[in-house]
Amino acid sequence: MVIFKYIEDVKYYLENKREEGFRIAFIPTMGALHNGHISLINEAKQAKPAGYNSAIAIPAKKLTVASIFVNPTQFNDKEDFEKYPVSGENDIQMLAEAGCDVLFMPQVTEIYPGGPDNIPTFEFGYLETVLEGAQRPGHFKGVGQVVARLLDIVQPDELYLGQKDYQQCMVLKDLIRQLGKEDTINLHISSTQREPDGLAMSSRNRRLTEPQRAIAALIYQCLVSIQAKQSTDKFELVQKECNDLLEEKGFSPEYISLADANNLELLTDFDSNRKMIVLIAAKLGNVRLIDNMLLN
Ligand code: PAF
Repeated sequence: MVIFKYIEDVKYYLENKREEGFRIAFIPTMGALHNGHISLINEAKQAKPAGYNSAIAIPAKKLTVASIFVNPTQFNDKEDFEKYPVSGENDIQMLAEAGCDVLFMPQVTEIYPGGPDNIPTFEFGYLETVLEGAQRPGHFKGVGQVVARLLDIVQPDELYLGQKDYQQCMVLKDLIRQLGKEDTINLHISSTQREPDGLAMSSRNRRLTEPQRAIAALIYQCLVSIQAKQSTDKFELVQKECNDLLEEKGFSPEYISLADANNLELLTDFDSNRKMIVLIAAKLGNVRLIDNMLLN
């Protein structure tokens, strides 16, 4: 695996690889890697590159490129940023073992020379006003800002994101549209990787204390129970049941919401004519956890 810190160097390297016929699959991360990230690398390596033609003996070649950058502009909570886990050496080892080809690890000054105000931001309308957008003002502005910057540097053909951050996936799909790159970047959304008890893998999980970790999968159990009750119960009822259960066990739920999976329009009750998703955000101590499940 080749590691780059500077934009100029990674751009030069990738330009040459592109000229050699490589297609580029990009996996942006904030480090503190876990098997969810590694599954994105594996998926990127396994998926046939766009442009693959089985009639041609040599398929298009593919290069997997990961980035590690803890983006300060997407943290609305200073403490969350300061406590965001960092595990550089371990991350490098995990990526190398997974067969990642290129790692880009820039410093803040490389991504934001002259400060974040010098780098364009984007508007995501309704998506910025609900769920994560409402709970974390400015978060998606920061995500859009850094991902636009990274896409400009890496110029990928494929972008891999995890479904755990469902709303982020929708925001970045819209970013790709706003950048006019719908036809050049193939967006892959990969299913959430879970621990054996169902807890969605997340870098923040490592901040949970042992007793918190022991109950953290309750969020997943709530999602499963909501999915199971979609054709028998009112959403309001199962929402309250889950809210009460989470509170009883010491969580502070921020939202337990049902939405149209295509546009995140909030729904008051189950509607099997729509593609539905249920999304939960809850704090356990000072660790904020999110998860979601497609219902149908
Ligand atoms: O999901 C993340 O890890 C981050 O939001 C991303 C997409 C790498 C942008 O900083």
